[in-house]
Amino acid sequence: MQPWKELTPAEFSAHSFTLYDKDWALLTVEAADRVNAMTISWGGLGTLWSSPMATVYVRQNRYTYGLMEEADTFSLSFLPGQYRDKLQYLGTVSGRDEDKIAGSGLTLVHEGGAPAFAEAGLVLVCKKLYAQLMEPGCFTDDSIMGRHYGKDPSLHKIYMGRVERIFSDQ
Ligand SMILES: Cc1cc2nc3c(=O)[nH]c(=O)nc-3n(C[C@H](O)[C@H](O)[C@H](O)COP(=O)(O)O)c2cc1C
Repeated sequence: MQPWKELTPAEFSAHSFTLYDKDWALLTVEAADRVNAMTISWGGLGTLWSSPMATVYVRQNRYTYGLMEEADTFSLSFLPGQYRDKLQYLGTVSGRDEDKIAGSGLTLVHEGGAPAFAEAGLVLVCKKLYAQLMEPGCFTDDSIMGRHYGKDPSLHKIYMGRVERIFSDQ
């Protein structure tokens, strides 16, 4: 749990595939005095417009979606494995139905201009630069639609954020 030290993009190294898919992240966003966090395991880290970028994918039926639409910034908190049950909870229950940050027992902090979680080993604070809804006509493999949007047809919106601050306990 905090204190973190701040890293430059050049000092930061991560295995982007395992970071999201294995560790999971808490996407946390604040808009109009409402804060919400949801678990994500799909996303990316890379470079665009000569900037370090983080990409996340949020289905339109998430409560987080409305906040992502309004907010200018979002954060990604990567927590150690001991918090797996909390991430499972934040990735199952909706902030529409209950105050799930309070329910999780995790510690919300504001760091670098965005809400994030003190229990995280790594926090990325991102400025939203681009957002685009996935288009059914743009899939080049039709099986993806059936496999991922058959039961829940709410397509993901792609959000790309420039990584402004990196806080790490390493
Ligand atoms: C491991 C895991 C990964 C998830 N990844 C994503 C994701 O990348 N994008 C997404 O839209 N939902 C994802 N979800 C589902 C949301 O976290 C879940 O629907 C959550 O309850 C939404 O909360 P909200 O309604 O408060 O925004 C994931 C859930 C889990 C458990």
